[in-house]
Amino acid sequence: MDMNDLTRRLGGGSPRVAFGADYNPEQWPMEVWKHDVELMREAGVNLVSLGIFSWALLEPEEGRYEFGWLDEVMDLLHENGIAVDLANASASPPPWFTVKYPDSAPVSADGVRQTHGSRQAFAACSPDYRRAAAALTTAIAEHYSDHPALAMWHVHNEYGCHNQPDFGPHAERGFRAWLQARYETLDALNDAWGTAFWSQHYYDWSEIMPPRRSGTHVNPSQQLDFARFSSDSLLECFEAEAAIIRAHSDKPVTTNFMGLNMGLHAPIDYWRWAKSMDIVSNDHYLIAEDHRNHQDLALTADLTRGWADNEPWLLMEHSTSAVNWQPRNIAKSPGQMLRNSFQHLARGADGILFFQWRASRAGAEKYHSGMLPHAGRDTKVWREVVELGASLEKVSEAAGSRVVASAALVFDTDARWGAELDSHPSIEAQPVRELREWHDALYRAGITTDLRQSTDDLSAYQLVVAPMLYLVTDDGAANLRRYVEGGGTLVLTHFSGIVDEHDRIIMDPINGGGYPGAFRELLGIEIEEFFPLRAGEAVVLTAGSGARWSELGRTTTAEVISRYEAGPTSGSPAVTRNVAGAGIAYYVGTAPDPAALAALLPQVFADAGLEAAAHASEFPDLEVVTRASGEGSWVFAINHGDAEARLGVNGSELLSGTPTGGALAIPAGGIAVVRLSA
Ligand code: GLA
Repeated sequence: MDMNDLTRRLGGGSPRVAFGADYNPEQWPMEVWKHDVELMREAGVNLVSLGIFSWALLEPEEGRYEFGWLDEVMDLLHENGIAVDLANASASPPPWFTVKYPDSAPVSADGVRQTHGSRQAFAACSPDYRRAAAALTTAIAEHYSDHPALAMWHVHNEYGCHNQPDFGPHAERGFRAWLQARYETLDALNDAWGTAFWSQHYYDWSEIMPPRRSGTHVNPSQQLDFARFSSDSLLECFEAEAAIIRAHSDKPVTTNFMGLNMGLHAPIDYWRWAKSMDIVSNDHYLIAEDHRNHQDLALTADLTRGWADNEPWLLMEHSTSAVNWQPRNIAKSPGQMLRNSFQHLARGADGILFFQWRASRAGAEKYHSGMLPHAGRDTKVWREVVELGASLEKVSEAAGSRVVASAALVFDTDARWGAELDSHPSIEAQPVRELREWHDALYRAGITTDLRQSTDDLSAYQLVVAPMLYLVTDDGAANLRRYVEGGGTLVLTHFSGIVDEHDRIIMDPINGGGYPGAFRELLGIEIEEFFPLRAGEAVVLTAGSGARWSELGRTTTAEVISRYEAGPTSGSPAVTRNVAGAGIAYYVGTAPDPAALAALLPQVFADAGLEAAAHASEFPDLEVVTRASGEGSWVFAINHGDAEARLGVNGSELLSGTPTGGALAIPAGGIAVVRLSA
């Protein structure tokens, strides 16, 4: 069961884009439910997520379940043709649970135990939590598996969100067992963690702790392993609950991911998790004050597609307008929600859902927008919701198709976590920012990018960019080398290929040879010293300038494209190009400004056999993405700018139902979806 099965079920045999929201009827009196469902039909809603935060109402005391209200809602939805993504409700244990099992709550690195009162207060390794979540899941799966409204299962909610890694006694026990399985011997662990440093040698497993608060920087290899363990221990929770559901039901199972928000300190390795999903689903919220937040959306959607192995995926949550949890919760301007929705769709989503159906009356999220605002139907938000529902119907034929991309960005979880460790050459070495900047550069050239891991088969891509691939395994490095030698064009950027999987410098202690140990030969360069820049400082290059980072080094076999022109690294190569086998490997040792990128990218594209899209220079705010399948090709055009844009494209525009006649005008802020003529 996958996304294609779901969209076909929603369309009664032919694909229909999923459209809906989290629905929390328990927050409203029963008389509101009927009204809700009438309005859902008016908007074209076909899927709602139910019961995500309902544990306290479904199980008022341990082992006593009350499904009456949920039965009524399920029946009502089914009678109205609305399918349900049913939660197993394990996300947020009720207050009675925390009171009864106080040590099931997570403990911070400082030793502070959390309590109930917000949500998701549980320690992933608490046996009481796991037992209670399994019992609840069993009860729900037994009760609802055959309900005709049920279309899919929503396990938990945003694992790792508001559920900091636990550093308490359960985690201590779990971490040791995880380390024993990974290393088998203490010698291997001491070697991997470099414990000869600062007198950290371990003589007994019982001496090893989670990386709790210590005097200064805790061993980075230990921090990295703890992040891996924390991700794995939550994944065990998911697997256990999903297995119970799968034993009762053949409907697809998912849990909603959180895009790029999960870093070293909220660690979830989504590449790994995605393998356990029947449908990959993601939640995305704009950072309202980011003026180009649609580019963050594009990147996150591309990354979600990567986790889904380029298959269609589900946007489980986004917002119709403002959220409640940012410092300034700026409402969406007219048309912005429609553009956001179509961006996700263009980039591989086959379902567009929101948090949440109806804006709450009480609680911490009462200022968060919903599909139905407090002000009701005579509103900008409701009109756009209805318009979106109708528009999605018109493009349903594209569901099931795949995004066409000629370039890829490499983004490994371990490399990100490694680069986010402390005690580094500069706090400016931020892998997500680096990724976003390179994604933006390709976006501005109109080039659609997939996101892949360093160990994936990359041979289909004309261009691969690996921004700040700080940590790399031998397999990853060998795979990138193979890609280049087989004829590919690769761009690696600064602070890449520096450490192995244990965060130890890749180096030769006898012969030296400089950074980056993993890619020195491939790049034909040797870096002897990092020269991070001061805040706001720029370094002059032969063409343009660079920010944040510079380096002292030399080329061995590479050709110099650009040098540092001033300062302590003056004369050192900043950007280089090396022929390796049948391909080319570029290196970018700084964060280039637009002028430096403009000088570099045409050459990279020429080597890769790529061209910037024809519309890119004239209409930089026009986002164009193509999806294709055996049934046809669809061009999605989203105009983020405030002037009309034009695109040369021949086919039928599905939202207006008119032929393009070879050229299409997309109004300011507008959207078009064209089925290409065969
Ligand atoms: C997350 C959660 C939702 C809700 C939204 C608010 O995505 O999954 O329950 O809190 O944030 O933006």
